[in-house]
Amino acid sequence: MTVLVTGGGGFLAAWIIRRLLARGRAVRVFDQAENRRLLHLIVGPAADQVEWLRGDIARAEDVRAAAAGTSAIIHMAGVLTPFCAENPVRGAEINLIGTLQVFEAARALGHRKVIYTSSAGVYGPDDGHSPLPHTHYGAFKLACEGAARAYYADHGISSIGFRPFVVYGPGRESGGSAGPSLAARAAAWGEAYTIPFSGASGLVYVDDVAAAYEAALLREIDGAHVVNMSGIPTSNERVIEIIRGMVPDARLSIAGPPLTILPDLDIGNIATILPGVLQTSVEDGLAATVAFYRTHAKPNA
Ligand SMILES: NC(=O)c1ccc[n+]([C@@H]2O[C@H](COP(=O)([O-])OP(=O)(O)OC[C@H]3O[C@@H](n4cnc5c(N)ncnc54)[C@H](O)[C@@H]3O)[C@@H](O)[C@H]2O)c1
Repeated sequence: MTVLVTGGGGFLAAWIIRRLLARGRAVRVFDQAENRRLLHLIVGPAADQVEWLRGDIARAEDVRAAAAGTSAIIHMAGVLTPFCAENPVRGAEINLIGTLQVFEAARALGHRKVIYTSSAGVYGPDDGHSPLPHTHYGAFKLACEGAARAYYADHGISSIGFRPFVVYGPGRESGGSAGPSLAARAAAWGEAYTIPFSGASGLVYVDDVAAAYEAALLREIDGAHVVNMSGIPTSNERVIEIIRGMVPDARLSIAGPPLTILPDLDIGNIATILPGVLQTSVEDGLAATVAFYRTHAKPNA
């Protein structure tokens, strides 16, 4: 019962793998490079026991080889908004073609379900209900959702595509919306930090996302579903206020334009499809993030 986690070297995947290992599941990671740093940070020494295959998610033969012998696939490999803005063609190869390769591998193996990662980036700056992305990243994610519906219609492969908004917590270090996590880390480490976007966003604590993926893996599902994880709308001023409640002298500021997604997104159907999903308060999530970095000192500090 090996679970394939693509992009297993990344932030969200590390937290999902933590839950899978705690359940005693065998995990195989597929990633472009073997870098266990984040996995070590989040799961500790158990990171060494995870099987690790390297390859390119956009290459059919790499993905097929990675999926062989697995019983389930959780697809997390992808590049984030800034990468797609800089390199739209390669961004499409990784985020869109890569997702198609995962569904093709599932089809070849006779898997009945795929769990994959879309994004709240499918929404644009004007409407939090009808997907109308203004970024390449959001456009590729929306196309993945359409492809997932086609795989169900054509081949009966069910799926859940998650649309998290700004995921934060220990280990979130990259991407345009890493600011709230990096602010908590900087405060814990006594460093100055400027959150590089203004306004508000929907904050989702990373272990809530991991728990939802775990629930999706365990649940029988039929159909091609997409679920919003719209998070708790929170301004960056409030993020800093909460962090200063724990670290009064935190040197934090805000600069830059707002994100290209409205902060108040549709909550959608997640409670129907995955009843009982967690929603950690922003106060608790930021407290857990500050506490984590207080006990995990800056490397070489
Ligand atoms: N972090 C968030 O707030 C957030 C929100 C919504 C959706 N997502 C989506 O969740 C997924 C994971 O995000 P994350 O924040 O953990 O990102 P991350 O950058 O930490 O992890 C992505 C992983 O994918 C791997 N990868 C990239 N290109 C690859 C390729 N060609 N072949 C194989 N592996 C490749 C990377 O090496 C990395 O380990 C992505 O699909 C992202 O779009 C993230």
